Amino acid sequence: MAADRRRSYEIVAPFYEELARVLSLGRIGRAKLSQLEHFAPGASVLYAGVGSGEDARAAVEAGFDVTAIDLSPRMLGRLQARLGPRAAKATLCCEDFRSHAGGPYDAIALNFFLNVFDTLEVDRVLDHALERLGLLDSAHSLRLSEELERVRCPTLVIAAELDGFVPLDRARGLAEAIDGASFVSIEGAGHAVVVEQPQRVADLCLEFLNVVR
Ligand SMILES: C[S@@+](CC[C@H](N)C(=O)[O-])C[C@H]1O[C@@H](n2cnc3c(N)ncnc32)[C@H](O)[C@@H]1O
Repeated sequence: MAADRRRSYEIVAPFYEELARVLSLGRIGRAKLSQLEHFAPGASVLYAGVGSGEDARAAVEAGFDVTAIDLSPRMLGRLQARLGPRAAKATLCCEDFRSHAGGPYDAIALNFFLNVFDTLEVDRVLDHALERLGLLDSAHSLRLSEELERVRCPTLVIAAELDGFVPLDRARGLAEAIDGASFVSIEGAGHAVVVEQPQRVADLCLEFLNVVR
């Protein structure tokens, strides 16, 4: 499983960040960088599943003590190139985060990382992260399922049948955790569903908005 995942990210590594920028309509960078202001000055920060690491680079530049982990050597290679001489100030580890034994860290960034695991595994990954923080007791407060139970507005979850990064089971689990949420899986589409089948996605959103307005 980890080997499959590594292979998938190895393939997308050269254009992952550009693709994410398109899919997020240019917002993903800002979303990730906004967390820096929550770290205490000089904090030790672990980036798990760092990818090519625009956030980790900004953290190194801001003087944080950065450790960055990724399964994919190509992703880490991109981060290393992007850091240039500053790479010496960070610790880059090519490993499965679930085996990482370092820490404790002051903060852990799991940017767009938990979504790569299925519903059962995600709890284990969170526990592992919390152990690295030495905060196991607060694990409960981070459970997304409790937040999802509190969602009261009409919700539509759109998934893609062939999404290799967000397993269908995980997307379905999201809808099941939100009271009354609808779930649609778009056949024949992969992770870039909004680019692959924009009309289908737009139609589903409009249909949903017409029903709920
Ligand atoms: C969706 S990408 C997110 C990348 C980056 N954090 C971002 O926000 O752009 C998920 C990353 O997690 C890495 N990854 C997947 N499973 C992993 C694991 N078990 N341990 C470490 N990294 C993993 C992938 O190689 C990929 O770079």
